[in-house]
Amino acid sequence: MELKGKVALITGAAQGIGKAIAQLLAEAGADVVVADLDLPKAQETAKEIAERGAKALPIKVNVASFDEAKQAVDSVMAQWGRLDILVNNAGITRDALLLRMKEEDWNLVLDVNLNGTFHCTKAVLPLMTKRREGKIVNIASIVGVIGNAGQANYAASKAAVIGFTKTVAREYASRGINVNAVAPGFIETAMTQGLSSEVRENLYKQIPMGRLGTPLDVAHAVRFLVSEAATYITGQVIHVNGGMLMV
Ligand code: NAI
Repeated sequence: MELKGKVALITGAAQGIGKAIAQLLAEAGADVVVADLDLPKAQETAKEIAERGAKALPIKVNVASFDEAKQAVDSVMAQWGRLDILVNNAGITRDALLLRMKEEDWNLVLDVNLNGTFHCTKAVLPLMTKRREGKIVNIASIVGVIGNAGQANYAASKAAVIGFTKTVAREYASRGINVNAVAPGFIETAMTQGLSSEVRENLYKQIPMGRLGTPLDVAHAVRFLVSEAATYITGQVIHVNGGMLMV
């Protein structure tokens, strides 16, 4: 139970990768805040986690709003009095080739994926700075490194999350705060459910392990990064992609 006594806030934790992260950190002993835009689903996930004997608090948040991010953090502090770990996982796609990409879809993806990461990080940093400890993990994407046709908005947001991660890591290393990113490859979640069988076949050829990843594959990397074992690791991007990209 290496995370016993720690409080972890995971955004976008109602389903998919965020849910797997919340479940795994809870298994490791953390009390978890299941923060999501979809409150009923966040409540369901928190209930499932609590049924396995951990503490889980569902919270509604739209990370695209700084005020909502700050309120979520304030409400965790009011109820549990501490916050040790932040996982910026909430993310969306609005795919289209660039000429057909609507400005509102460009802005929405940047608002959630990039600004959301900024908002939540800014909201927790004063608490972590005061205690001179904290772990922040940002969920980026392989697409932010290699690009992907049809995802200019998403790729730009995830590349920016990587630059953001490295900068905040440099700014806060001396305060005992670790800031890292995990860049998943293609993972079996609602986000990839719509891929056609043709796209899937093509993907399998590009992935040395010959399969898409699972949410748990990503969660294990996060669990390592927020543990004491990773204390000397900051500003890094851990790739979880079945070998699709080797850097
Ligand atoms: P998902 O679509 O299954 O879950 C995303 C969750 O985020 C949902 O519960 C949704 O309600 C929540 N959410 C959306 N907008 C929000 C907002 N404004 N505020 C708060 N919560 C919000 O997605 P998935 O696949 O689990 O993705 C999680 C993260 O992993 C995302 O950042 C995504 O970009 C990233 N990722 C996913 C990959 C994949 O293949 N599934 C690959 C690489 C990265």
